[in-house]
Amino acid sequence: MSHKSPKDFFAPLAVGAPAPLREIPARPSRAIHFFDPSNPKMAAKVPAMVGTVDVLLGNLEDAVKADNKIAAREGLVEIAKSTDFGPTQLWTRINSLDSPWVLDDLITLVTEIGDKLDVVMVPKVQGPEDIHYVDRLLAQLEAKGGVQRPILIHAILETARGVANVEEIALASPRMQGISLGPADLAADRKMKTTRVGGGHPGYLVRQDPVDGDIHGNRTVFQQDLWHYTIAKMVDACAEAGIYPYYGPFGDITDVVAAEDQFRNAFLLGCVGTWSLHPKQIEIANRVFSPSVEDIKHARRVVKAMGDGTGAVMLDGKMEDDASLKQCLVLVELAEELAAIDPKLKELYDAIEIED
Ligand code: GLV
Ligand code: MG
Repeated sequence: MSHKSPKDFFAPLAVGAPAPLREIPARPSRAIHFFDPSNPKMAAKVPAMVGTVDVLLGNLEDAVKADNKIAAREGLVEIAKSTDFGPTQLWTRINSLDSPWVLDDLITLVTEIGDKLDVVMVPKVQGPEDIHYVDRLLAQLEAKGGVQRPILIHAILETARGVANVEEIALASPRMQGISLGPADLAADRKMKTTRVGGGHPGYLVRQDPVDGDIHGNRTVFQQDLWHYTIAKMVDACAEAGIYPYYGPFGDITDVVAAEDQFRNAFLLGCVGTWSLHPKQIEIANRVFSPSVEDIKHARRVVKAMGDGTGAVMLDGKMEDDASLKQCLVLVELAEELAAIDPKLKELYDAIEIED
């Protein structure tokens, strides 16, 4: 088989569709807040949330009852048409590609509100063929609806085959914006023996060796992270493709402490954001996925001390060189992107004074 020429990846897939982007802009997306557009109470709160969260996502898939699927789709059209989203992104999660609803989800949303929709989240992605299908269909619908800029695609990593194919998925189209972990569906698909939506499990642990052979004595137990392997694999695939990785849902809304831990692990491993299933989780995500004042203070000190960026210096007894500088620049650049849309953060970062 002959391969597509590299330059053709940037040709629209339908006559009249907007040209694909060459780079996915680093738009802040610390919390992707899910709402059910068929739920009038939730829908009514959406306009007031603009500006308080980086991404609002109208969910059409799981958690929306089959009887409400059409109301959710129509509700999202209504909300999108009547709301000015300002700096907040509008995303949707469409139904899965094998469902009876997805074709009409895409036709309706792209032709009616395509210019307001930033990203389409595709659930249960198995391989690059799923992305190719959505890619072409989006182009056809963008052309039909006169959409001016390309709608991006976000895949949920929630099937074993999807995890096996994550690199190919990440590289499947210039529309690929990012990938989220879908721990609930992924657990079911892999036949993991958990019953939770994200987070740890007390049974998944490592135990300290017995002291003096006393196996029943006091032995410290450390819970391990069920999601470490998948998140690390997803982060590498996204970094390779120049797109963005995300945690996903954390179902225990009351356990704000464990949610924060899971989100922070994901942040430290390279993720840029997470899902929010309740307004409480927006605050956690905004905090955790923004570099701390201490991190930025240290990062700016290293940047200053490193001058032209080569060689090595000692700061507080620690060696800093080109590579640690690059890590610091990741944080400094992220802080700048976030400060541009978050005045409170800007104030915090601007107030940082660095000593030599
Ligand atoms: C999300 O969709 C999940 O299945 O965890
Ligand atoms: Mg799912």
